[in-house]
Amino acid sequence: MKHLLKLLDLSTDEIIDILNLADQLKYEQKHGIPHHHLKGMTLGMIFQKSSTRTRVSFETGMYQLGGQALFLSSRDLQIGRGEPVQDTARVLSRYLNGIMIRTFEQSEVENLAEYGSIPIINGLTDFCHPCQVLADLQTIREYKNKLDGLKFCYIGDGNNMANSLTVGCLKVGMSVSLACPEGYHPDPRILEFAKAYDNFKLVADPKEAAADADVLYTDVWASMGQEGEAEKRKIAFKGYQINDDVMSVAKSDAMVLHCLPAHREEEITAKVFEQHAADIFDEAENRLHAQKAVMVRLMAPEK
Ligand code: CP
Ligand code: NVA
Repeated sequence: MKHLLKLLDLSTDEIIDILNLADQLKYEQKHGIPHHHLKGMTLGMIFQKSSTRTRVSFETGMYQLGGQALFLSSRDLQIGRGEPVQDTARVLSRYLNGIMIRTFEQSEVENLAEYGSIPIINGLTDFCHPCQVLADLQTIREYKNKLDGLKFCYIGDGNNMANSLTVGCLKVGMSVSLACPEGYHPDPRILEFAKAYDNFKLVADPKEAAADADVLYTDVWASMGQEGEAEKRKIAFKGYQINDDVMSVAKSDAMVLHCLPAHREEEITAKVFEQHAADIFDEAENRLHAQKAVMVRLMAPEK
């Protein structure tokens, strides 16, 4: 594994290896066992969109691994004034040991990887959010002690989260049911990938997708960059909510996850959110551990 650009690029073994290392690093961090695998290294973090979890977990993770992280806002970089990403990649490769980038176009991340000579980590694009899904899988495995054979249900927008969750969950042997309204289905490349799996289903009815689910997941109706469509989307997504009615058809011990930030009473009720706050904030914590594992695998593969 040279980069983490999208989960489509990873094998099942590579995903499981990251989850195992994430568990080990979590144990070491909780027990005060030093794990300075990236001593003296620097991660550049380019942000073209807002972030709480991604920024803080990468920065802290890099520090815990003995390295440091640089927050690079695209407003301040020359990239924000039109310097090509191809040139930025070649310059930053001379200073840094890795780059994490959050941006709009997936092609920008792929271009950085093509022109740079250091590992590139996708910290969210409009197409996917692989770091989030690695943390999600780590959390599911912690709660359920397995991944293979579980039923995963996603309700809402066929966005970057739906895209990455579909790929990640199918690759580790889960069955995946998505409920998305017409016009808001996942990316065609994801549907093409999922076609090969007979345990994948895309339906319109949230309760049909949630039936017997072990894990329920949702995300905002309007993602970053879609703020102007928020009102239209409130109408399109009405009913695409994790609430008591949906929970009543899932398994009685089903867990509920949300990548955050959440909009209570839109994609999830405040009641269900608070009932499952332990799951959701364990999930948020695992961003730290899963990303530390990704950085170690990419930046110090010999460790
Ligand atoms: N879930 C997630 O990526 O959160 P941030 O946007 O706060 O980084
Ligand atoms: N779909 C959301 C995820 C945020 C972590 C967005 O792209 O804004």
